[in-house]
Parts: sequence; C-alpha cells; structure tokens
Amino acid sequence: MKITVIGAGNVGATCANVIAHKALANQIVLVDVKPGLAEGKALDMWQTAPVNIFDTRIIGVTNDYLATKGSEIIIITSGVPRKPGMSRDDLIATNAKIVKEVTEKAVRYSPDAVIIVVSNPLDVMTYAAYLAANKHHSKVFGMAGILDAARYKSFIAEILDTSPRDVQALLLGGHGDTMVPLPRYTSVSGIPISQLLNQDEVEKIVEKTRQGGGDLVKLIGTSAWYAPGAAVALMVEAIVHDQHRIFSICAYLNGEYGFRDIYLGVPVKLGRKGVEEVIEIELDKDEKKLLNDSANAVRDLMKTLDEMKLF
Ligand code: LAC
Repeated sequence: MKITVIGAGNVGATCANVIAHKALANQIVLVDVKPGLAEGKALDMWQTAPVNIFDTRIIGVTNDYLATKGSEIIIITSGVPRKPGMSRDDLIATNAKIVKEVTEKAVRYSPDAVIIVVSNPLDVMTYAAYLAANKHHSKVFGMAGILDAARYKSFIAEILDTSPRDVQALLLGGHGDTMVPLPRYTSVSGIPISQLLNQDEVEKIVEKTRQGGGDLVKLIGTSAWYAPGAAVALMVEAIVHDQHRIFSICAYLNGEYGFRDIYLGVPVKLGRKGVEEVIEIELDKDEKKLLNDSANAVRDLMKTLDEMKLF
C-alpha cells in the first residue's frame, strides 16, 4: 500500500505520522511546494521508526509527482490554513486553484487512487477535487464528519467525566458553522444522551462543537492538526482494511437527502472501493431544516467556485 500525502504542513505531516504508527502503508510519500519541508519532515518521521517501531518507509519530495506514482490513496491537505478572524470560507480563492492543480498532477500518476480531501473550505474543495480528478464520485471524498463528531464526543465525555470511547454520535452537514450535530443520534454506551444531560447542556455542547475549529484557531493562531490528522488516518484505516465502517464524511449526493450534485457531510459506508453507500437516516423537521441551511451555505460557496471559472 502506497499512500501520498500532499501538503507537508501540520495536518499533512500529522496524518502521515499517524498512518505510519498504525502500520497502514508500506510507503508514504509526502509532497510539498516548499523546498526541503516535506523532505525534512519525512526524514524526521522516518527516524522515529526504530524508536516507535514501525516499518512504513516515509519519503518527502518537493513537487515531484513522479515519486507518487502508483499510490492507492491520495490525501490532499494543500492550501493556506485559517488565521484568527478568518472563516474557512475566506480561503476559497487561494485554495481552489491549489487543490485543482495538485489533484490533476497526482491523478496523472495514480489514476486508480482514492482521493481524500482535507483542504478548506472542505465541502467545496472536495467538489473542486472531484471536478479536477474526473473520477467517479465514490472515489473522491472529504474528511470532516469524523473530526467534528470527535470534537462533539470529546465535549460530551468531558462533561460526563466518562471515556470518550463510549460516546457514539452522528453529525451531518457542511464543515462550517452550519454543521449539524444530532443529539437524537447521540448515546453513551447505548444510553441516549437525553437521559444523561439536560437540553441546555446538550445545546451548549452543540454550539461548542460548531465553534470547535474556530476556537482552536484563536488559541493557536492557525488551524488545528492533531485531531484532523488522526481523523484522516481513521478513514485511511477503513479503506486499507476494507472495513465497511459507517461514519460521516463529506460525500457526493445524487438525490440522497433530497440534494443533488453537491458534496456534504453524511453517513456513509467506507471501504476499499471508497464510498460504498450513502446512508440515509430519518430526520425530523428541525433536523431537516438545519441540514437544508447547511446545504445552502455550501451552495453559496459553490457559486463562488463557479465564478472563478477554473473548470
Ligand atoms: C478544523 C479545520 C481543519 O476544523 O477545518 O480544525
């Protein structure tokens, strides 16, 4: 299994590191535009192999896509991250061009690869990668639902003083302020969250989840990377081991949930072939409205992408 990670910034490097630790690939190629960055980080990671005991050969290259040839998974993290005061949407003008360019180059050398997009604004960048890759939509998707659900679950574990591993939850919608955590689909070891927390507490956690990424930008001065990198690695694991796992990812909708020709966060079954199935869950009136609002926010941004006339 050969995996390419494009972008050796914080998210790309963290995700490569977690993939190596989980022994999901025998080779990882880290690519960056900045000379020496990918080479240096890859070398540093490779030198942890005798200490942390893994076999994955990690190499870094500067813009050398030939080195990525024959990859089975391509992870796109390229682009500029947020600075305090910026929304993910502010990044579109810069990142759309970058995502288009790197996707085209990577696909040329690895035409059969599954593509995972991490660049922001996530839903629209995944759509851009889909257009640039010219592949079936089951092979191009984005990472956000696992990250957003992880934040949601971690806040629940914190308030209940329980293990995060016992928290189950689902979250839909775009990776932005309109994301839709679903308390009705949240439980702790099977116990509905409504029996453990009152409505006010749940609402506070939902709001904190929506602001989760932004709060980290305020604290660190740039986007987060530990949880985003780990979330990507979980998707990689599901693909490599053909696990048919069910979790929310940014997937192409072709009529599901009443939406067509849009990338949005929804639960899917993920395995070796990519998205095997979009799972449609039952939503009540309020949940449907929230999902609609989120889809509208993504559509607005898709218009901006359209006006850029990149495709
Ligand atoms: C975040 C970035 C990766 O949510 O979008 O932290």
